[in-house]
Order: sequence, then C-alpha cells, then structure tokens
Amino acid sequence: MTGGQKALIDKLERQGTLSRDEFQALLDFRTQESAQYLFERARAIRHAVYGHDVYMRGLIEFTNYCKNDCYYCGIRRRNRQAERYRLTKEQILDCCAAGYELGFRTFVLQGGEDPHYTDERMVDIIRAIKTRWPDCALTLSIGEKSRGTYRSFREAGADRYLLRHEAADARHYAQLHPAELSLENRKRCLYDLKELGFQVGCGFMVGSPYQTNECIVEDLLFIRELQPHMVGIGPFIPHHQTPFAAAQPGTMEMTLFLLGVIRLMLPGVLLPATTALGTIHPTGREKGILAGANVVMPNLSPTSVRDKYMLYDNKICTGDEAAECRMCLQRRVESIGYRLTVSRGDSKIEA
Ligand code: 5AD
Ligand code: FES
Repeated sequence: MTGGQKALIDKLERQGTLSRDEFQALLDFRTQESAQYLFERARAIRHAVYGHDVYMRGLIEFTNYCKNDCYYCGIRRRNRQAERYRLTKEQILDCCAAGYELGFRTFVLQGGEDPHYTDERMVDIIRAIKTRWPDCALTLSIGEKSRGTYRSFREAGADRYLLRHEAADARHYAQLHPAELSLENRKRCLYDLKELGFQVGCGFMVGSPYQTNECIVEDLLFIRELQPHMVGIGPFIPHHQTPFAAAQPGTMEMTLFLLGVIRLMLPGVLLPATTALGTIHPTGREKGILAGANVVMPNLSPTSVRDKYMLYDNKICTGDEAAECRMCLQRRVESIGYRLTVSRGDSKIEA
C-alpha cells in the first residue's frame, strides 16, 4: 500500500470526511492492500460501536406495481413482462406475525410506487402493524411522496424510511432516470423525512451505467451532508428486460471498499450487507460484514410472490421460506464470528 492511501484512510477515520480531491484519490488509487487496511479500520470502529452484533430486518416486498420507469429496474412501468402482484393487508400482517416468531423486531415494507396504496390504505396498514407489535420498528421504502404524506405516515407510527438517492450527481441521476424524476425532488424527500423525525436511509448502486469515480465522490459528499442513519449500497446488476440489459454489473470489490469508507465516515451508521451483494458473490454478504456492514435484510415475503419482485437478474433467496433465510443468514453470520440479534437495532447515531 502506498503511504498516500494509508494517510487518507487514517485521515478519514480521524475526521469523518475528506476533501473532494482526497476522496477522488482514495478511489482512484485503491489497491487490494489499501482495501484490507480500510476494512481493518472499519471493523475496529464497528466493533467499538456495535460489537459483533448484526441486526436483522424482515423485508416484506408487498407490491411490484410501479408508476416509475427507472432504466435499471426490473419492475419499471414499461416492463410489460413483469408479472404484477399486490399483498393484502392481511397477507402483510401474516408476514409480520411469521417474522415476529422468528425474532424479527423490524419490518421493512418495500414496494414500487403503487397508487393502489393510497395514503389512507398505508396509514391503516402502518397503524395495524404498530398496534399489534408495539415493540417493533417499522420501516417504509415506498418512494417519493409529499411532505404531508410523509407526515401522516410518521403520525401513524412509522419509524424509519429508506429512499436511496441513487445518484447525487445531477447528470448521472438523469442518465439513470426518465426526465419526470429529478434529483432535486429526491433530495427534498430525504430532507423532509429527516425533519419529520424518521430515521432515514439513503444510498446508491455501485457500478451503475455511466457511473465514474467522480460520481461516487459526489455520492459520498452528499452522504456527508445528509448524515443519514442508514446507507443502503449494493452492486448494480443488469435486468434482462430493461434498457440496461447489456450493461456491465458493478463489482464486489468496489462495493466492499465503499462499505468500509462509509463506516469510517459515519461510525454509528446502519449499513446493510445487501441481497444484491449476496447475488454477485456467494459469500458477498459475509464479506460485506467484514468490510463494515452491520445489518442483513432477509426476505419475509410469501414464497408465492418472491420471484416476482425481480429488480435485477438472478436475485437470491427467491425459493426460500422466511425461516430458511433467517437460519441461512444466522449460519453465515456466525461462520465469520458475528451474531444475529433479536432487537429493534436502532442507530447509535445521535439524531
Ligand atoms: N441492480 C441493483 N440494484 C437495483 N435496484 C433497483 N434496480 C437494481 C438493479 N438492477 C436498487 C435501487 C433501489 C433498491 C430498492 O434496489 O437502488 O433503490
Ligand atoms: Fe435467504 Fe440464505 S438468506 S436463503
């Protein structure tokens, strides 16, 4: 490793950030050795804040209808081949009940931007979950809404909100999304959510088409500015029924490196080792934890719909029951000396 890389990593650990040029150099000149050193430091910080605990979130993919048309996403509106489904309130509650028995204390309701779930219907579902499982945290991941809608979700009891910013560079954002979606509105949503008292997660895909290291530096600077409680990053993986069918996937190496960087930037951040990371490499999620991640999000969706929530090709776990994913992840986490915990797993960042 060059002295320059070590100095940058040490500085990042001390200050929680770097200048634009320093971030650029850290990414441009990264090597296997500098990555190893980064992971060591990221693990040390992670152990100081969270010990060897790995938090689990039960992911419920409750609708794959979406009114948006993001170029990278398999459930985009224009994909006529996607077989669409929606879960009823009762089906969602059944997923939570099964998840609770398996030790989940956070439920994540994720879906496309589906107008069927009006504010009223969402509020009803949120209230039902929070009434029945008051000891659980509820996370929403259902896209861009007005501030008023976010407020009603918060008042109904939702605790957290995941909304990946996807690309903090406006030009890159426009290369991934049609013109009706804007980075400006995306950021507005994230700041509204934060002001309303949600624990907020942003994030982006690694290696998405047209992404350069300059783009990633912009993402890191945005994360620095937003100071989110959670950051979701995973490799881009092409989906064969999208405009990016023939694009190159992101790499595991760059994803792991960025997990380490983000852990140094935000010591208390909740950082998932994502399903996409587990999809591009058989032990990608384990490597993610060893690079600084501290969250896993096994799937609680009914197996009957699993294979329909296909954001990208070859997604793992589509045939597995919730209990199987839970046990599989427990084995994986324990195989590297960590433990899955039964707790809400709130962020240790002072909000
Ligand atoms: N590859 C990897 N991640 C994807 N996502 C959507 N499509 C893909 C893809 N092809 C991610 C987006 C979104 C999250 C739910 O899944 O970043 O925010
Ligand atoms: Fe789903 Fe391993 S996490 S089968």
